[in-house]
Amino acid sequence: MAYETLIVETEDHVALIKLNRPEALNALNSQLLGELAEALKAAEENEKVRCVVITGSEKAFAAGADIKEMADKSFVDMFMSDFFGTETEQLLKMRKPVIAAVAGYALGGGCELAMMCDFIIAADNAKFGQPEINLGVVAGIGGTQRLTRFVGKSKSMEMHLTGRFMDADEAERSGLVSRVVPAKKLMDEAMAAAQKIAEKSLLTTMAVKEAVNRSYEMTLREGLLFERRLFHSLFATEDQSEGMNAFLEKREAQFRGK
Ligand code: CAA
Repeated sequence: MAYETLIVETEDHVALIKLNRPEALNALNSQLLGELAEALKAAEENEKVRCVVITGSEKAFAAGADIKEMADKSFVDMFMSDFFGTETEQLLKMRKPVIAAVAGYALGGGCELAMMCDFIIAADNAKFGQPEINLGVVAGIGGTQRLTRFVGKSKSMEMHLTGRFMDADEAERSGLVSRVVPAKKLMDEAMAAAQKIAEKSLLTTMAVKEAVNRSYEMTLREGLLFERRLFHSLFATEDQSEGMNAFLEKREAQFRGK
């Protein structure tokens, strides 16, 4: 499938999706988000793929929603099209793990896109921010909700109210990103993490993802029960038997996703 705003490559069991609108610092317009939804769906349906990496350029992961596309829209336009509601749905539906590899600007919708992924690996030049306040709007793809859960109310509120950017070190300290790596090594590190995940049982990685994501949706008591029952149910799989026997026999496990 040919895309105009993305470059998609599959390496072993990893689909790499590169946002590619360099003239606009990868600003997210309807075309890019529509193509991203298609590329994600294709990765989800491709039996060979076991992990997805989304990245941008060295200068920008994405500098936000496309301001040129939005500037003249009315409330009715935005509301009736449920602007960005349907386009972002596919990312939320992904059962395969999705990593964001972020270099440069991840602002507004760019920061929100990164936060919708399962975890973020940041280059040391990464800058995160929710500067929508400077445009007379609020975040629209989850920024006020997700950033607050990641970094806490005080920092999230400050960032949304002032529009200031957070550098990579602060993002790591605050729990927004899993780790920071030198910009030149970003793609090697992100692809290595993705390959490592792809070596596991896909069945188990999907189960992990469901359990961790439930921690946002459920009370602790319900979440603990959900996790325990999931843990129990994995004893019905061949991969549990293979994983545990491989450990006892001091050999590498050969997972088959069954
Ligand atoms: N939308 C559309 N075009 C954008 C853009 C955006 N979000 N961000 C950058 N661009 C374009 C610029 O207009 C410029 O295009 P031209 O050359 O045609 O003028 C090109 O990308 C390069 O940008 P700059 O010249 O501004 O580059 P810079 O290095 O001087 O500054 C920047 C970089 C600080 C990221 C600056 O571009 C900027 O502040 N961008 C806007 C960031 C922003 O406000 N994001 C939030 C958008 S709203 C949103 O995302 C809502 C939501 O939650 C859904």
